[in-house]
Amino acid sequence: MRTRLVALSLALLLTPALGQSPALPLSEAQIAAADHQRLLDLLHITELRPAASHDPNSANAVNYDEAKANLWPKRPNPLVLNNGKPVASAAIWRTRRRPELFELFDREILGRVPANAPAIRWQVVSTTQGSDAGVATTTKHLIGHADNSADPALTVNIQADLVLPADAHKPVPVVLEISFDKYPIDPAHPLKLPSPTESLPTWKQQVLGKGWGYALLYPTSFQADSGAGLTQGIIGLANHGEPRKLDDWGTLRAWAWGASRLMDYLETAPAVDARHVAVEGHSRFGKTALVAMAYDSRFAVAYLSSSGTGGAKLFRRHYGEQMENLAATSEYHWMAGNYLRYSELKPKEVTPADLPVDMHELIALCAPRPVFIGGGTLEGGDGWADVRGTFIAEVAAGPVYKLLGKRPLSDDRGPSDAFPAVGTALIAGDLGFRQHSGGHTPLPNFPTFLTFASRYMAP
Ligand code: GCU
Repeated sequence: MRTRLVALSLALLLTPALGQSPALPLSEAQIAAADHQRLLDLLHITELRPAASHDPNSANAVNYDEAKANLWPKRPNPLVLNNGKPVASAAIWRTRRRPELFELFDREILGRVPANAPAIRWQVVSTTQGSDAGVATTTKHLIGHADNSADPALTVNIQADLVLPADAHKPVPVVLEISFDKYPIDPAHPLKLPSPTESLPTWKQQVLGKGWGYALLYPTSFQADSGAGLTQGIIGLANHGEPRKLDDWGTLRAWAWGASRLMDYLETAPAVDARHVAVEGHSRFGKTALVAMAYDSRFAVAYLSSSGTGGAKLFRRHYGEQMENLAATSEYHWMAGNYLRYSELKPKEVTPADLPVDMHELIALCAPRPVFIGGGTLEGGDGWADVRGTFIAEVAAGPVYKLLGKRPLSDDRGPSDAFPAVGTALIAGDLGFRQHSGGHTPLPNFPTFLTFASRYMAP
């Protein structure tokens, strides 16, 4: 009921002339546009800067020229406190700087998980036996029921699967993927995940081949990938079906929260070695995996594939997708409402340079735990995700790893901040990187990630 009221009030926002009755039902795009406008009004923004366009003839054509990428060379220093004093020790990093950074990311970029986020009760719905490339598997189909006693009209369930080698004699490490499997396909805007250029076993087979298991979290089962869904799903349930406040969680934070809830389940599963759970995701779910890793220190290692803008890439990088794209009606729901402020054009221009943080600091919040970052090439079709922009951010997270006694990006000779040749793995440190020669796919870097992760996933 409340949800309908909200849809109705959003519909009124869309109704141009007074007295004209709203035309229902609204399309998802219209609901998102009205909610987006509501946030702009709250922020007193009258115009946003235009997003980068895929059309090369547009005035805002996406930039793929490295010479023009460094528009905002000054980055915030993760090792300086808000009061300007240096972070002189690991203890100060842990007790003072980390909380400061979390507060800034919560308030300005990702949004806060509400204190009343519903409790989740996990249920094994069914268990099936199978096999994959000769490995016998046991799959548990899981549902995490969200407590909706405060709002029985809203039902939210987290869907997930846990696939383990059937013949394991002891608890096994698990790769938790924030998964595109079961991602709803919109025929108008199908997600293009090209088939990989290198022929490899599937990542699931590679993981099972190591004697590990994997878990698949289906993010859109509990939070839709659209602005129209923000009064429903877990965000809507916590908000009693009302629209978000400016610092309420966006879907990246909500999806990452779901990964943490699945981790809660894994901690109770006797067949899982919960101290060795990796979190992995690609593209929008690579962004999500970074958020999950930064905020939940139970994840032992992360693989962030082509996570791009809103992921491991610096906002202060004029190359590929831009922060304005994530402020537009099709993607703003990933972020907190306050995030829109940094794309303001009118009445007063605010730019990425005004952000109090940047994404190298979200990578730094994963420290001291190991993070592997990968992606494809411009020629292969992954320019939008700006893999070099994620590399630069990863280099800039290095000083925090060093402060905590860990190794920054390194090759066999020691620390290295030189962008490596395509296909060269930089995995001698606790931060790892590789650019594969293909496009927008996580598969070609999976073997390198597993080599990297193996150093940390042993019992
Ligand atoms: C779009 C979006 C990216 C995102 C990608 C994906 O291209 O602009 O930010 O990473 O979709 O999730 O595949």
